Amino acid sequence: MKYDLIVIGGGPAGYLASERAAAKGLNVLLFEKRNLGGVCLNEGCVPSKALLYSAKIYDYTKHSEQYGIKVTESSIDQQVVIKRKNKVVKTLVTGVKGALKHHNVTVVEKTAKIEKKSSEGYVVSADNEKYTANRLLICAGSVPIMPPIPGLHEGYEKGFVLTNREVLDLTEIPKNLVIVGGGVIGLEMASYYNSVGSTVTVVEMLDKIGGPIDDEISELLRKEYEKKGVIFNLGSKVTSFTENSVIFEKDGKSFEILADKTLVSIGRRPATKDLGLENIGVETDKRGAIITDSFGRTNLAEVYAAGDINGMSMLAHTAYREAEVCVNNMTGKKDIMRYNAIPSVIYTNPEVASVGETETTAKQKNMNFESVKLSMKFSGRYVAENEGGNGICKVLREKDTNRLIGVSLIGNYASELIYGAAMMIETQMTVEDIKELVFPHPTVCEIIREALFAF
Ligand code: NAI
Repeated sequence: MKYDLIVIGGGPAGYLASERAAAKGLNVLLFEKRNLGGVCLNEGCVPSKALLYSAKIYDYTKHSEQYGIKVTESSIDQQVVIKRKNKVVKTLVTGVKGALKHHNVTVVEKTAKIEKKSSEGYVVSADNEKYTANRLLICAGSVPIMPPIPGLHEGYEKGFVLTNREVLDLTEIPKNLVIVGGGVIGLEMASYYNSVGSTVTVVEMLDKIGGPIDDEISELLRKEYEKKGVIFNLGSKVTSFTENSVIFEKDGKSFEILADKTLVSIGRRPATKDLGLENIGVETDKRGAIITDSFGRTNLAEVYAAGDINGMSMLAHTAYREAEVCVNNMTGKKDIMRYNAIPSVIYTNPEVASVGETETTAKQKNMNFESVKLSMKFSGRYVAENEGGNGICKVLREKDTNRLIGVSLIGNYASELIYGAAMMIETQMTVEDIKELVFPHPTVCEIIREALFAF
């Protein structure tokens, strides 16, 4: 059978694109080799949030006295936490399946490989069956980077080394957990396992955690977690893994940390291997990411790519939008992907969220800007709900245009309020425009407007 569109990969980019394309009348075939919902729903964004919410409740019980509530005893049952996480995942994956069915998307749960371009269209195979379509949308996602560090692959085989997949399924809480990489996954998992009682040690190559986040916020977050007992080794490079330890180098010296488990979260790379891209000549860059333009097009006519596979932003919400851009362009509606106002969140406790420029990126771009920082304590709701909290809000404006160009936050609800800042940046609002907006009171989001009065 011939389809209008074959989508490879059923994660956020692939399933959403399939739904949107089918809603526009295309006859769509979607391939998924593992689980519909992809990494995000099954072993990433969503399950980690389920775990972190359990940890948050547990933390509340440990610190409830300062809010006038005495909890005489509380404990965490990891088996129940994982069971609930699985239920959450199942509910959402079932929802995705239902939506695809509702839109009459044909789903084939097999590994797809691009074979060739024939006079009939693009030919894709799965288990020796051939499928043809006028268009292709490649959304095969990303895989964890697992470099050839001695002992890493053996450790993974033996269950000592974990990736984002296994760390979300531990039914026993490790006494000592070493996390290699203090990026988004590393920090969220450090947060969870620290809350539930593991001794957590983070080994990070850079001299800061959280990658591209604001330097001051990164330091605040690290100090917050140091207070909670997480040990950070910055400027430290892992050199090998033994059966029960992680060896790293710092300032030319070698150190060894014993561990029950170790999580390797040092980034992800586009999953372009074995897709058969070379069979039709899809262009990739040196990281293996598919090169796309702002319409989601590859170098080949009617071949699009969206999500982590293009290596642009590697976030589920970016993938959703890229998917829509691809579908709109392939169905005749011109649509452009913009990356300047994509929010990013680290779901630690406190949460970290940012959008647009940081001082570092604005300097790198030689922008004429100024920044101000305001304590979250200027928000009534923040003070009412965050005993001892020391969150901050940092805003950046471009001097020539007076436009808001960046917002970085550390403090709870940051994850929920950052979209407002993204809208302000995306719609190019000036500081004066935003000052004229009325924010609900008392809310934490008021902090953004308040900060602007400090310019
Ligand atoms: P990441 O890129 O966020 O962080 C990796 C960290 O590992 C960096 O700080 C890097 O300096 C460090 N590193 C690299 N090699 C190292 C080495 N040999 N030894 C020590 N440290 C080393 O990558 P991560 O945390 O693995 O996340 C992967 C992807 O998943 C990211 O693209 C992220 O955006 C996405 N993600 C997003 C989430 C969110 O939006 N809340 C949650 C989880 C993942």
